Amino acid sequence: MASSAYLLSSLLLTTIVLLFAISGADGEYEKSGNCIDSECPAYTVIHSQKEFEIRKYNTSKWMATKPIMSKSYKKATDIGFQKLFSYIEGNNTEGTKVEMTAPVLVDISNMTGPFCNSSFVMSFYLPKKNQANPPGSNLVSPVMWPSMKYSHVAIRRFGGMMEDNSIIAKEAAMLMNSLKGSEWEEAVMTAMKARKNGYSVAGYNSPFEIVGRINEIFFMF
Ligand SMILES: *[C@@H]1O[C@H](CO)[C@@H](O)[C@H](O)[C@H]1NC(C)=O
Ligand SMILES: *[C@@H]1O[C@H](CO)[C@@H](O)[C@H](O)[C@H]1NC(C)=O
Ligand SMILES: *[C@@H]1O[C@H](CO)[C@@H](O)[C@H](O)[C@H]1NC(C)=O
Ligand SMILES: *[C@@H]1O[C@H](CO)[C@@H](O)[C@H](O)[C@H]1NC(C)=O
Repeated sequence: MASSAYLLSSLLLTTIVLLFAISGADGEYEKSGNCIDSECPAYTVIHSQKEFEIRKYNTSKWMATKPIMSKSYKKATDIGFQKLFSYIEGNNTEGTKVEMTAPVLVDISNMTGPFCNSSFVMSFYLPKKNQANPPGSNLVSPVMWPSMKYSHVAIRRFGGMMEDNSIIAKEAAMLMNSLKGSEWEEAVMTAMKARKNGYSVAGYNSPFEIVGRINEIFFMF
């Protein structure tokens, strides 16, 4: 009992220290540890400050689920993760394993309220090796990301588990707020309207990593 309470409090402490490290950094957001061990999509940093970063992503091929309807981000992403995991573990037309990459991206649309269904599309970046000819699948399909129309992203980074929708909605509102008055505000707002307030969440950790998680809200424009 005592030792699990100790473990929990030291986990919490580590999380707080890491959160500080993440949000206190000046200049470019630091690369996620998982982008050192695994492949991540290439991007160029256009602007960086504590509250947000503007990036331009190179277009590449990703594997995406069909839209998953759910009231809960957690439930939808549990379902989505199982599909992606099954695919990379070899449940695909080649029966071959695919290297894990980061981040996993979740496009959220129609997030209207706690009692309504939202639509979630979960995708992951294909490693260079599989870019040209990804193994086929009934669970996920190849898509190009970003689309040529929106190659820029305004990003807000945050830590922790995304247990419920309100955390994400709050971080998205904070990103919107910090973009106010910036030279990107208008372009972001226009794109946001065109996508009916849809945005994405990038997660850089597997569900099994509890400490030092890196998440980012993505507003494409
Ligand atoms: C990504 O795009 C930039 C700018 O267009 C380019 O310089 C860079 O080589 C590209 N990186 C990759 C991995 O394709
Ligand atoms: C919400 O989604 C669930 C799961 O896909 C579905 O069973 C349910 O009918 C949907 N509810 C509404 C109100 O659309
Ligand atoms: C992978 O697993 C699912 C069951 O979860 C199955 O329906 C699907 O057809 C399998 N194979 C491929 C190639 O996606
Ligand atoms: C968006 O949500 C509204 C209200 O819950 C629903 O009537 C509508 O069908 C949803 N649209 C999509 C594309 O999911």
